[in-house]
Amino acid sequence: MDKNVLESAWKVVNDSIVNFEGEPIGTLAACDASIEALNYDQVFTRDFAVSATAFLMDGKTDIVRNFLLKSVELQSREKHFDCFRAGQGLMPASFKVTKESGKDTIIPDFGEKAIAKVAPVDASFWWIYILRAYVKATDDPLHKEPLVQEGVRLILDLALTSRFDMFPTLLVPDGSFMIDRRMGVYGHPLDIQVLFYTALRASYELLTDNEVNRPYIDGARERLGHLAYHIRNYYWLNFSSLNDLYRSQVEKYGENSLNRFNVYPATIPDWLGEWLPADGGYFAGNLGPARMDFRFFSAGNLMAILVSLADQSQSKAIMELLRHNWEDLVGQMPLKVCYPTLQGEQWRTLTGSDPKNTAWSYQNAGGWPFLLWLLAAAAEKTDNRDLTKQALEIAEARVASDQWPEYYDGPNSRFIGKEARFNQTWSAAGYIIACQILENPEMMNIISFDESMDIIACAKRIAKMFEGG
Ligand code: GLC
Repeated sequence: MDKNVLESAWKVVNDSIVNFEGEPIGTLAACDASIEALNYDQVFTRDFAVSATAFLMDGKTDIVRNFLLKSVELQSREKHFDCFRAGQGLMPASFKVTKESGKDTIIPDFGEKAIAKVAPVDASFWWIYILRAYVKATDDPLHKEPLVQEGVRLILDLALTSRFDMFPTLLVPDGSFMIDRRMGVYGHPLDIQVLFYTALRASYELLTDNEVNRPYIDGARERLGHLAYHIRNYYWLNFSSLNDLYRSQVEKYGENSLNRFNVYPATIPDWLGEWLPADGGYFAGNLGPARMDFRFFSAGNLMAILVSLADQSQSKAIMELLRHNWEDLVGQMPLKVCYPTLQGEQWRTLTGSDPKNTAWSYQNAGGWPFLLWLLAAAAEKTDNRDLTKQALEIAEARVASDQWPEYYDGPNSRFIGKEARFNQTWSAAGYIIACQILENPEMMNIISFDESMDIIACAKRIAKMFEGG
């Protein structure tokens, strides 16, 4: 750990703090005067989740409390049928603090102003994650406030509603999470499913047991079991499951077909056979009818370890895969958001020829320093601290002198990203958390979830149902 780099990181984070009526309320996404701000001068819920974790681990809790209460006030509370206004329970993707007639005012964005009007499905889940981390880190029973309990219930109402498809995973449009542009991540992307799982786990802990909450607590537990079963079984890719898929039969009608989603072996990409080490594995990026997205998504896989959505052997295998493919995934700057990149015809059709997401750039397999926090957390949980140390050393060689870029480009993440902001807050906050985890592993208690016996029991019941075993 490099003291000067850490100091520089705290400066970036502290300089980004925004006040509302004299109180700290969040952090700006980036403070870079050299480029048009667009919405980078706003407090993003997902970005603040990283800042909040860094603050909590450092004992700075007020800013997190203020953020949680302000966000729950902003949460959409009315039912709208026009679908032009935010649906009940939704949390804003971001908000801006401005002065109107000399008074501090907050303007939330539920996606209606964002480029391409993307839906911030992840924001509500991140809010619950932050709430749970805050409650773990302090003695403050903030979650018991009626407004906060109601906020959690509204999110569950929105997320647990039955829809048209019959999977326990959540069906979402493209760009509904950290990858907030068109990237072929519509459907049932892993990152959202892991966040959904995290939010359900947290709600299960945070909802007080009473008559109003009982159906929500029971509903969350039930869904957690199904979700765990579904992800652990159907998203999991290791050499043996890939070989099964390679030899698998298709077009099977009926309830018990082995290739449940009718994924055609011909869709297995050439790079994958080589890339999968004998003892490694990972969760596929997406799964739906006749569709498996074989890309590796770092946030979803690492967070699955942190929240125990991955079981112990899967967690181990994911870290083995990272170790084995270190050059591809870490290279010159940790960590690629996904791997491999979309190029050529795939880039044209899946991104809509997006000039910001060209091959090996930005969300299309760029390297994002903020992901260091998840790398460190997953490594700590699986006893792979050497990987955190190596990743920190690589980052420390240049990330501060490069002025904390938002992302890096190139197959080995060597270039500072084409349109990357400097002084990107979560790049610095991610680094701080990784250092904190390395120095004080007990901090993991704030962010980690253990295997839950309840969920294992429920997943076993479901296995019996499906497999008769
Ligand atoms: C970019 C990222 C998004 C982030 C935002 C603010 O759009 O893709 O995930 O929240 O910038 O940093």
